[in-house]
Amino acid sequence: MQKRIAMIGGGNMAGALVAGLSSAGYPSELIDVMDRNPGKCEKLHDAYGANTHLSAGDWLRDAEVVVLAVKPQGLSKTIEEIKPFLEKEAFFISIAAGLRVCDIARWLGSDRLVRAMPNTPALVKAGVVGLYVPEAAKEFSKIAQEILRAMGEVITVQSETQLDVLSTISGSGPAYVFRFIEALEAAAVKRGFDPQAARKMAILTVVGSAKLAQNSSDSPAQLRINVTSKGGTTAEALRVMEEHHFMEMMDEAVQAAYDRSQVLADELGKI
Ligand SMILES: NC(=O)c1ccc[n+]([C@@H]2O[C@H](COP(=O)([O-])OP(=O)(O)OC[C@H]3O[C@@H](n4cnc5c(N)ncnc54)[C@H](OP(=O)(O)O)[C@@H]3O)[C@@H](O)[C@H]2O)c1
Repeated sequence: MQKRIAMIGGGNMAGALVAGLSSAGYPSELIDVMDRNPGKCEKLHDAYGANTHLSAGDWLRDAEVVVLAVKPQGLSKTIEEIKPFLEKEAFFISIAAGLRVCDIARWLGSDRLVRAMPNTPALVKAGVVGLYVPEAAKEFSKIAQEILRAMGEVITVQSETQLDVLSTISGSGPAYVFRFIEALEAAAVKRGFDPQAARKMAILTVVGSAKLAQNSSDSPAQLRINVTSKGGTTAEALRVMEEHHFMEMMDEAVQAAYDRSQVLADELGKI
């Protein structure tokens, strides 16, 4: 049976979730969104017919699933605002980056909580959504997956540490890919292409390569080998990338993101 969902925060991520649910045929009358910006409320109401609210209130009492979608640093305060109106039976999905289940559960006074990590391609329904379901919330695993599927492919992980690792790959990953696109684009412009053509070339190369990798039975490593003739131009480019320790650099970057996530979780969890 479809549940009544309350989105706390009506920004980018909640917007992507509402859009995904709406295009999957989820009834708009079962979706409530709370956002203090009237413009964002209006947009979500006009585009998807969601019920919108500028602040917490009695409307929250009907919520069966509550999606926590405000910035991590504002979550504890927002929970204080919504808590007086929540019924005991509500179940929570936090998409707040980095915040640990134990801290959010403490603020909520409830362990009926799962943690999810979407990424921005969810805005075009091509997201990767990591999902961690603690033991205490096992009964909500299926409904959480059903809801989060509206943003993209759901990957369920077995521990919170794994969710933090996933966050450094698919959560931050779009930024790594955009940086790569920027680099390809800049290299083409430097060599005489107009910026528009350079951007198109760079973006389509990444999209096409990702689609090929997705559809091919060959591994990405094999696909790379297939493009690389011995002594040819691609081999020269890859040689330079390896001279600059591309693989090690990516590994270090991912580790740095992970280390930072632990520091932030410690800091924000102190509240
Ligand atoms: N963007 C990403 O790549 C990404 C990926 C994975 C997870 N996440 C997580 O998803 C969550 C939402 O991110 P987002 O990018 O969608 O953020 P966002 O665009 O800033 O959306 C949050 C919205 O909630 C509103 N809000 C905050 N506190 C409120 C309150 N107490 N009452 C009413 N409205 C309130 C904010 O208003 P104001 O603007 O006025 O504060 C804002 O409109 C974050 O926790 C983030 O860590 C984001």
